[in-house]
Amino acid sequence: MQVTMTVNGDEVTREIEPRLLLVHFLRDHLGLTGTHWGCDTSNCGTCTVQMDGEPVKSCTVLAAMAGGHEIRTVEDLERDGVLDPVQQGFMEEHGLQCGFCTPGMLMTARALLDENPDPSDDEIRTAISGQICRCTGYTTIVRSVRWAAEHPAEVTP
Ligand code: FES
Ligand code: FES
Repeated sequence: MQVTMTVNGDEVTREIEPRLLLVHFLRDHLGLTGTHWGCDTSNCGTCTVQMDGEPVKSCTVLAAMAGGHEIRTVEDLERDGVLDPVQQGFMEEHGLQCGFCTPGMLMTARALLDENPDPSDDEIRTAISGQICRCTGYTTIVRSVRWAAEHPAEVTP
């Protein structure tokens, strides 16, 4: 079957098998390997992308279901060499350790801040509750999202 969707602002059309998951469509068909694939059981959240602005675990979405929708991946956060505040925040506050969970954390944090620019730490923790960090350092991740909330203008293009 054929599927057409918008990915990071570009319309893409590909021939796919109906059973193909969105995470594999992004990684294997489009080469967008910034979206990680960690568990395939919808637990870890590292495959999180935005679909129409909402964070979704791309291993729970068939590529066919994403047809006609707008997908945003971690590759779209940096623009013309300027990092998104959430990326900058993870650098400033050491929010990434091994980095495997980071793409999902970043896309979840971006969606949170788009909806709620000044979240409390509890709201940040609730937003990332579907994201598992195997390195277990959630404190610095929460601080990183807080940094991004407090510095929206300094690094936004
Ligand atoms: S790979 Fe999708 S939730 Fe883990
Ligand atoms: S930084 Fe290693 S899994 Fe989160």
